[in-house]
Amino acid sequence: MTSTPAPRRVTVTGGAGFIGGNLCRALLAAGCEVTVLDDLSTGDRRNLLDGTGPGTAEPRPIDVRVVEGTILDDAALDDAIAGADTVVHLAALGSVPRSVADPLASHHANATGTLMVLEAARRHGGLHTIVASSSSVYGSNPILPKHEELATRPLSPYAGSKLVTEGYTLAWGTSYGMPTLAFRFFNVFGPLQPAGHAYAAVLPSFVHAALTGTPLTVHGDGTQSRDFTYVGTVVAAITDAVLRRVSSPGPVNLAFGTRVTLLDAIAELEAILGHTVERVHTPNRAGDVPHSQADTTRLGELFPGITPTPFAEGLRATVDWMRTTL
Ligand SMILES: NC(=O)c1ccc[n+]([C@@H]2O[C@H](COP(=O)([O-])OP(=O)(O)OC[C@H]3O[C@@H](n4cnc5c(N)ncnc54)[C@H](O)[C@@H]3O)[C@@H](O)[C@H]2O)c1
Repeated sequence: MTSTPAPRRVTVTGGAGFIGGNLCRALLAAGCEVTVLDDLSTGDRRNLLDGTGPGTAEPRPIDVRVVEGTILDDAALDDAIAGADTVVHLAALGSVPRSVADPLASHHANATGTLMVLEAARRHGGLHTIVASSSSVYGSNPILPKHEELATRPLSPYAGSKLVTEGYTLAWGTSYGMPTLAFRFFNVFGPLQPAGHAYAAVLPSFVHAALTGTPLTVHGDGTQSRDFTYVGTVVAAITDAVLRRVSSPGPVNLAFGTRVTLLDAIAELEAILGHTVERVHTPNRAGDVPHSQADTTRLGELFPGITPTPFAEGLRATVDWMRTTL
């Protein structure tokens, strides 16, 4: 007689954010039970609703348990993590410029917050823990593509706090025998990513401006390049890591070695929209890195089954989603 395996119970910190909202849906689709811990500082409960957008029926919450609270509070962490098999730790204050403006806030949320999540995961039995680090840790190291053994040279408080995130996570793996995985996300984009605020990421800002008929703001000459990664691919890799309990003693790039300049991205956007878009160029921003492209060897070894969504396809899905929000 075969018995159905118990569903995997997953706690997602930052689950009401952009990547978190997408991840919750992917985990539910894979049969997991999901709890979200989020203080809604940059996230939004609407990311946990289905059927949003003009003309749709009454939005319904997706089937996750939500604990509204901060990762800096042990009681909230205990509530959210008790009974979990895996913790996916996404909660953080994103954005390089935000961290330059307020480094202590980034440190508290990203560095101290990670420490508290790891300690909670240890208290609850040494749980499998997956965390979000960032390609920004490579910083001023000019070597391309970025492989995980390169020297890290953070250029911003945000990048420093992400280096702490992955450093503590890997140390909790070795010091306490916890199965841990630190992904270095590159530039993730796709549905649910907010635009129209000071710390918005570049692609949603471009798409929002193009759809609302405002000029696109390009920092610098637009030749800086990024390894843009579609969120659907990112959450597929995280879900696979949850289901197979993947861990790694070193950090793992989560990107696919594509190198798209901002000017390329604008040209692709124009092709999708079928018209040209206006742009204004402003000076480069402090802490921004000129080029970013992942070496994918380690990712390919650990996740041979993941195929990336091509940039153009992901951008089209982003445009389609953004239209529903206007
Ligand atoms: N989006 C990217 O391109 C990218 C790239 C590299 C790394 N990352 C990392 O991926 C993770 C998710 O990023 P995102 O783009 O979805 O950002 P996001 O801002 O949409 O999501 C972060 C979530 O964390 C929550 N949060 C912040 N501080 C918290 C706290 N103290 N306690 C509880 N919840 C808190 C926010 O409310 C939000 O819902 C972050 O750790 C980010 O640093 C993202």
